[in-house]
Amino acid sequence: MMQALRRYPLQNISSKFLNQVAGANAYSTKVLHDVGQPTAATHPQLLKEGEITPGITCEEYIMRRKKLLELLPEKSLAIVASAPIKMMTDVVPYPFRQDADYLYITGCQQPGGVAVLGHDCGLCMFMPEADPHDVLWQGEVARVDAALQAFKADQAYPINRLHKILSGMIGSCSNLFHNVKTASSAYMDLEQFKKAYQSGIVKDFSIYTHEARLVKSPAELNLMRDSASIACQALIQTMLHSKLFPHEGLLSAKFEYECKTRGAQRMAFNPVVGGGPNGCIIHYARNDQKIEDGNLVLMDVGCELHGYVSDLTRTWPPCGRFSPVHEELYHLLLETNKECVKLCRPGTSIREIHDYSVEKMKKAFQEIGLLKDNRPERYHMLNPTSIGHYLGMDVHDCSTVSYNRTLKPGVVITIEPGVYIPSNSDVPERYRGIGIRIEDDVLITETGYEVLTGSIPKEIKHIESLLNNFSNGMESRNSTRAALS
Ligand code: GLY
Ligand code: MN
Repeated sequence: MMQALRRYPLQNISSKFLNQVAGANAYSTKVLHDVGQPTAATHPQLLKEGEITPGITCEEYIMRRKKLLELLPEKSLAIVASAPIKMMTDVVPYPFRQDADYLYITGCQQPGGVAVLGHDCGLCMFMPEADPHDVLWQGEVARVDAALQAFKADQAYPINRLHKILSGMIGSCSNLFHNVKTASSAYMDLEQFKKAYQSGIVKDFSIYTHEARLVKSPAELNLMRDSASIACQALIQTMLHSKLFPHEGLLSAKFEYECKTRGAQRMAFNPVVGGGPNGCIIHYARNDQKIEDGNLVLMDVGCELHGYVSDLTRTWPPCGRFSPVHEELYHLLLETNKECVKLCRPGTSIREIHDYSVEKMKKAFQEIGLLKDNRPERYHMLNPTSIGHYLGMDVHDCSTVSYNRTLKPGVVITIEPGVYIPSNSDVPERYRGIGIRIEDDVLITETGYEVLTGSIPKEIKHIESLLNNFSNGMESRNSTRAALS
């Protein structure tokens, strides 16, 4: 059918005909309703019956919405638009990633919709119309029927009716919220919204969504564990690969490949693969250098599994041996990492753990002559980052929640002490050009903590053993290759 259609210029095909051929199921070999994303019916390998997204049931989505409505003041309305599509060129979009709040509330992984949550309307979804040309080129999308049947919205309308229906809803609510991150002209241009905005009653909804998302449910924790486990397995494979292929770009590609072959949908963020001094650039993104023999490589990586991300960092020498100065600094950071992980428990806060780490590292840096004095700005130059952050659907999850917040069971945080010493730093020469970070993902439990990234080595002897035992076999393969070339 596609081949036949492509022989004709699109403008010659009547839209009635396109509607017939490009409707739901047009390209399916089975008679299954395609809603533009996996469902239990179309992807039984990914979703169980009753799940809206893999691992998260319909009941859980309904509970999330109920909880949010309980948190909101009475007669509230909250508008959350889906993430926008960003274009690379006129017809080529960047890969789409759904906004975490929109996904958390609706389970819809597709662009073009506006969700409204209110005490009067429950979940009302305004869904994009499926343009037959778009469906022909890009496949099926979730429409009004999907909102009702797949996402279990209480009400759903095509987006072209938003103007009238949402204006009425805004007119009769007492408190109006919206997701500032995805604020869209689709609703901001409405007279009713503008009026509310000018009168100063429109507030950011993320205060509430971040509150709801902070403590993870058992189902969310299973996805977080799986996401961390995939990232650990992928990073171990990448560490093994690094001895033969010490190149930032190859290690980035290897990690991504190993994650995706294990089921991850995408990277949690652009992998940071910093060889030698590049490890001092905290969010280094170029990944275009060869790693010099004897240098360390710092890899800060994570993947996303069905909406939940991991974030871990390991630093190691691809040659297989830490030098004495690498060992000295690494040891100090590893001690800080382990002590901070042990501090993770209900009742403490990221801020308290951070303050502990700063005191410990300041003292240690002074002892080895890396810090000349106690001034905070001197320390800040060696490590400007927080000891960690919340982790969940986003890498820096629930960013409106203060780091002073008391940690509770079900919250996941990172612990990531680091030291970043640029080559032009005025510290003793032997320390220059070294960047080290050791990052783990830690779940707060009733009694303490669970390290989600515990399956990847971080002790020097374990890392060296991993690299050298593996490399014996590979070196002989390598020499065979060299002999053949
Ligand atoms: N690993 C990315 C970050 O924590 O900023
Ligand atoms: Mn992190």
